[in-house]
Amino acid sequence: MTPSRLFGLLSPAEFLSAYWQKRPLLVRGAVPDLGEPIDPDSLAGLACEPDVESRLVVADRRASRWTVEDGPLPPERFAELPDRDWTLLVQAVDHWVPAVSDLIDRFRFLPNWRLDDVMVSYAVDGGGVGPHFDSYDVFLMQGRGQRRWLVGDPCDETTPLLSHDRLRLLRDMTVREDHLLDPGDMLYLPPGLAHDGIAVGDCVTYSIGFRAPGVAEALAGMADLAAERHGDSARYRDPDLTLQDNPGEIAPAALDRLRSMMLTVLDDADLLAEWLGRWSTEPKVPEAVEAPDMRIDAASLGALFDSGVALHRNNGSRIAFVDRGGGSVLLFVDGEPQVCAGRTADLARLLASETRLPAARLGRFMADPAGARLLVTLVNAGALYTE
Ligand code: SIN
Ligand code: CO
Repeated sequence: MTPSRLFGLLSPAEFLSAYWQKRPLLVRGAVPDLGEPIDPDSLAGLACEPDVESRLVVADRRASRWTVEDGPLPPERFAELPDRDWTLLVQAVDHWVPAVSDLIDRFRFLPNWRLDDVMVSYAVDGGGVGPHFDSYDVFLMQGRGQRRWLVGDPCDETTPLLSHDRLRLLRDMTVREDHLLDPGDMLYLPPGLAHDGIAVGDCVTYSIGFRAPGVAEALAGMADLAAERHGDSARYRDPDLTLQDNPGEIAPAALDRLRSMMLTVLDDADLLAEWLGRWSTEPKVPEAVEAPDMRIDAASLGALFDSGVALHRNNGSRIAFVDRGGGSVLLFVDGEPQVCAGRTADLARLLASETRLPAARLGRFMADPAGARLLVTLVNAGALYTE
């Protein structure tokens, strides 16, 4: 299925201009061929694994009480659960289950670096995490069963919350929209909108989650990079100092000097590109990116391509690039930057845009030592694998 059918009659470009980060959108039959990329038993199995992030949320809606248990869960926990009012949420299922990772392909019209993960939840009748808001965009795709989604008003840090140490539950939620989703339906929610998803019978929901750096986080990251680059050498200077009336005053001119020195650091486009590239490609689950037991060399990799073996991106690996102009790019793989020029820059662009590369598209890059080196390095790091 092509991404263009994801929003029914709306094109991805129309979705971006009218809904993305602005308003919710319900699409009936958005993903009619969704099937069951993971079944509830396998999901429960994942929640018992130590490298997988999961939560079990048990609700007592009448008492407005929700309890959260973090994974890994002991397998016997599932046998003790009641018939209703609980949900199991498993984060980054795309890292572990290729069929779940394939769901992301429908969203490749959005910049990859904005994508976070696919969370999968299984809930029994009445189960859900309660009325809340999230900081990020999300596409909620309905798998098996039905879920009722209540959508409320925009919220922010001043919105009153229930005192709950784990879930940011809303004290009140005025319901503006009420939708019962069937398998294959999809609801898009922009950041900050109140919502509450309640299972109607048992159901599975796939949440394609996005992320965006906080400005404070970006500033802190830039400060760390600047400290690495400049150390103590960049320091407040005042060769233009003149006499001031009160030596006890921190004068406006002093503040201006420091401000302008800080803005010079912040205005460094290369530094910002490096920070965002590193930040956005840092693996979410480092355990999912393992170096292979056997290292490969250029000759063996070339031979594999010659025999038609394709290259795949590890589902836990993240690749992005920044164009530096003049035909060179800064390629980021799992948080590590490297400059690629000439034909290797073409290879870098290809690696960042595709998650599967047939051998026929790779042969020409192996003829070039820099291209071959890049591919061999990434295969040996576990970011790419042959199959
Ligand atoms: C879910 O229960 O699958 C989604 C939870 C949410 O609303 O964030
Ligand atoms: Co939510």
